[in-house]
Amino acid sequence: MKNWDVFGIFLLIRLFSVFFVQTYFVPDEYWQSLEVAHKISFGYGYLTWEWRAGIRSYIYPLIISTFYTILRFFELDDPIFLIYGPRVLQALLSAYSDLCFYQWSGTKKWAVFSIATSWFWFYTGSRTLINSFESALTVIALSQFPWVGRGKDENLKFIWIAGLLSAIRPTAVIIWIPLCIYHLLITKYKIYSLIITRYIPIALIIFALSTLLDSLTHGSLVVTPYEFLKFNIFQDVGSWYGSQPWYWYLSAGFPAVLGIQFVPFIMATLVIIKNKDAHVNELALLGTIVFALTVYSLLPHKEFRFLLPLLPIALHVSSKFLSAWSRKANKLVLWAVAIILFLGNVGPAYYLGFVHQRGTLDVMENLREISFNKPNDTHLLFLMPCHSTPYYSHLHVNVTAKFLTCEPNFNGTSYYIDEADQFYNNPGLWIRTHYPPNGTLPSHIICFDVLKPMISDILSRYKTTHEIAHSSFPSGRVGYNVLINERIGK
Ligand SMILES: *[C@@H]1O[C@H](CO)[C@@H](O)[C@H](O)[C@H]1NC(C)=O
Ligand SMILES: *[C@@H]1O[C@H](CO)[C@@H](O)[C@H](O)[C@H]1NC(C)=O
Ligand SMILES: *[C@@H]1O[C@H](CO)[C@@H](O)[C@H](O)[C@H]1NC(C)=O
Repeated sequence: MKNWDVFGIFLLIRLFSVFFVQTYFVPDEYWQSLEVAHKISFGYGYLTWEWRAGIRSYIYPLIISTFYTILRFFELDDPIFLIYGPRVLQALLSAYSDLCFYQWSGTKKWAVFSIATSWFWFYTGSRTLINSFESALTVIALSQFPWVGRGKDENLKFIWIAGLLSAIRPTAVIIWIPLCIYHLLITKYKIYSLIITRYIPIALIIFALSTLLDSLTHGSLVVTPYEFLKFNIFQDVGSWYGSQPWYWYLSAGFPAVLGIQFVPFIMATLVIIKNKDAHVNELALLGTIVFALTVYSLLPHKEFRFLLPLLPIALHVSSKFLSAWSRKANKLVLWAVAIILFLGNVGPAYYLGFVHQRGTLDVMENLREISFNKPNDTHLLFLMPCHSTPYYSHLHVNVTAKFLTCEPNFNGTSYYIDEADQFYNNPGLWIRTHYPPNGTLPSHIICFDVLKPMISDILSRYKTTHEIAHSSFPSGRVGYNVLINERIGK
């Protein structure tokens, strides 16, 4: 297939996902990207503690805020463009990375099939998540990597991308340490001269530029990777946001992210281990996956999205195996396998991308309309777990709004309950404290239906105007529906 044809396929799929995927995945998709960019470009927007403490690189939000500022300059800052524009940009990058994946995999049809049908990449490839950005750039770097047997001049551009990724997200080094070691083992250059003339200068240049950019945006000198390590490793703030058992990535995380492709991946792994000498590059990739999974497993806080950059690596391995297998396979079996793999991905892509957890995004459309119509009389109160919805980036009106925060305990006092827990421990008391009966009440209360009986006191002064489907599997503080309750009278 021609490169342009293949790129066209990828472009269609990624752009389709921008409009098809309408569900809420994780807070960072908005709170660590769009909100920050909105604040930089428009002067209002919510900065979470990570940004006040300076533990995140500004590079990714700055890319989005450059786009926002251009829209603002041409007075095109319609909320629809603010919401979908960055997703289209990410989709373009993802489609380009898919093309790189195809070339890296030796222009095999199975490579097109595997990456194009991967449910998790469809689900995340057009989200404004730093992990999606990282995953796309990782593939672009891997397609440049001087693999054994390439035969061409040794291309070292990948070092720049790996360095950039490590500056943006320090945990990217977990993947790049084994790959760089592999590079040093197979290079045609002298190892020391490679380190001294390439690795170290590139690292220093990127470090200096990213520190400059972060400090200028932050307003004071800040070395974000250092602050990140300080908080996450030494103060163990990461585990504040939940911790899973050590085997979680093996039992749940990795199989779920790969989906049905887990089966060919395991078979490919067995073939590679049996026949090591013929698969040195694949062995290095497997080593990278094992190393990364081991390190991730040792960290208490675990999430599906952290595995995203490992997904194309695993798909590269499995599609190589499928290509080799399909040369000998029966046509009928071949089609059966392709159809099973396809359907196995369509199911989760449809359900998780279109149905499950969409209420907290849909509700923003109604709230935007409410805020636009009466910006001065609107006071939104989100009584839901922290960061359950996007915020100003989806409203694009500077209304008064409040949500329950869940910041970690910074001052090391032994007794600490975050605001969301304080609220849920005693909703009535929290409301009376924050909204005394003689003061003004918020104009709208946004909550899940499960909360309604617990705050019936205050809701007696409200009427429910919208009931928006969210999840068929409510649990704990999350319900079936999201409600908008509007205050009756003044
Ligand atoms: C947004 O609203 C807040 C509170 O009313 C105000 O302090 C702030 O200056 C406003 N920001 C902009 C950019 O309008
Ligand atoms: C903890 O620090 C926050 C600000 O970071 C401050 O508002 C709060 O009063 C402190 N609490 C204690 C118990 O020191
Ligand atoms: C409401 O009443 C409380 C005490 O009951 C008082 O402290 C507060 O200042 C009052 N607020 C207003 C806006 O009158």
